[in-house]
Amino acid sequence: MVDDIREDGKPKEKITYTCPSLSLVAFYTAIVCVLLAILIPIEFRYGKLAMFKKLDLSVADGASLKDYILHKLGVVESRVTAKHFGTKDRLFTKDELKTYSGDSQIIYLAILGQVFDVTKGASKYGKGGGYSFFAGIDGTRAYISGKFDDEGLVDDIDGLRPSDFLGLEDWLSFYKKDYIYVGKLIGYFYDKDGNENEGINIFKEGVKMGNIEKLNSAEDSKLYPGCNSRWTPETGANVWCELKSGGVDRDWVGFPRKYFMAGQTNHRCACIKEELFNDPRFKEYEDCDSKAYACKVKDD
Ligand code: HEM
Repeated sequence: MVDDIREDGKPKEKITYTCPSLSLVAFYTAIVCVLLAILIPIEFRYGKLAMFKKLDLSVADGASLKDYILHKLGVVESRVTAKHFGTKDRLFTKDELKTYSGDSQIIYLAILGQVFDVTKGASKYGKGGGYSFFAGIDGTRAYISGKFDDEGLVDDIDGLRPSDFLGLEDWLSFYKKDYIYVGKLIGYFYDKDGNENEGINIFKEGVKMGNIEKLNSAEDSKLYPGCNSRWTPETGANVWCELKSGGVDRDWVGFPRKYFMAGQTNHRCACIKEELFNDPRFKEYEDCDSKAYACKVKDD
């Protein structure tokens, strides 16, 4: 107490020392806290803040910062894909997948056994949406058959045509690109440990066949180009060959023939070279000279 009194009996002035760098740190910390207090609720409400994406906080494509945080917190119901963050795939039973068929806020569907979050497409997949029947199930076959009833909305892909498998491959790419991958469905395509099942083998073989067929058909169109064709009420149907027909530019014209492709009962018009006149796959048009460049189509 004595130290606080000056010689003239008045109290000494109190001098307080503050460290300038410490107060700056406190100031910036406060600013960061205020910013976070504003930005985090916005991120949680609307998802995907562009500025967070630019910072590349290991937030993978299609996942928001919210997803990342929920993932780190281990919140299972988050719309985080295991794939996005390099952990094991989430596995669904059919019953579990059904719970995401549009009654709750989150909508999932499966195609080829892969589960996607399609919540952002709620206008299509949610209740009353034009494609709500796909929600909560794996209706892979219906993507090809267009049969959207209980009989058609199944995962079984056995017996589809090779080109159908390429169609399914396109649908899968579409979902991978436009929606968020969530995990795998246990059943026809994946087993209870997430390993590939019978359905995936059928799919892979089908895609192989589809690609071979596509190559063959491209080769086929080059060797036997399609004819030009026109139909009018006055002249009926006519086919003819030119230096360019069937989308193939060439240095020979060819003669129109009915081309019956292997294993098919229908035919298309092909322009062929004279050396193929005796090939049984090619039939002349009725009442048309074998060396005519144009023919009337009388039958079909
Ligand atoms: C096999 C037959 C068909 C299948 C499997 C199919 C499937 C689908 C699916 C899954 C979507 C939603 C895509 C998304 O998530 O954005 C969609 C959208 C759409 N489909 Fe189909 N579709 C078929 C046939 C048709 C046909 C024949 C039409 C027209 C006559 C049509 C018109 C539309 C339209 C307009 C949209 C966009 C809807 C929107 O964005 O709100 N679809 N289709």
